Amino acid sequence: MMRSARRGWIAHLLALLIGTGMAAPAAAADDALYRALGGEAGIARIVDNMIDRAYADERIKKKFDGVNPKALKESIGKQFCQLTGGPCVYDGETMVKSHAHLALDKADFNALVEDLQFAMDDQKVPFAVQNRLLALLAPMHRDIITR
Ligand code: HEM
Repeated sequence: MMRSARRGWIAHLLALLIGTGMAAPAAAADDALYRALGGEAGIARIVDNMIDRAYADERIKKKFDGVNPKALKESIGKQFCQLTGGPCVYDGETMVKSHAHLALDKADFNALVEDLQFAMDDQKVPFAVQNRLLALLAPMHRDIITR
């Protein structure tokens, strides 16, 4: 499938999830997704790439001013690991608390999701696997988008 068509499709999926308020499971039932993403090392590569993109992304880079990228990568890596059924314990702040001061809107959220998609493309994560991670993240928009 062409990249632009895929982006459109994902935007549609996200809009659907967000628009209907459809609940996705809070975490994976087993570690299949964790393993499909390449375990802790695979997730670390994806998150590293995503956050590097976000810090360089003209649409959202200002939101990361003064934020230590290494600490953020570690925190999100743990969160993704736990969320996908891996053997990690996320011990960071809630999504509400860590994003409240950032005044994020839907466009900010979609920009970061796009950076994540490109990061997963870079790591050759299959499209179906990408969608499973995105489906777990999509419901978090309720806690992260505040305007
Ligand atoms: C599904 C979407 C998102 C997820 C899963 C997510 C996840 C996280 C996590 C786990 C943390 C660390 C909290 C901690 O260590 O206590 C964090 C912090 C942060 N996030 Fe997000 N985030 C998302 C969306 C966004 C968006 C859209 C932006 C901006 C465009 C953003 C900007 C930040 C910033 C700047 C911090 C650091 C806040 C600080 O330390 O002051 N996040 N996020």
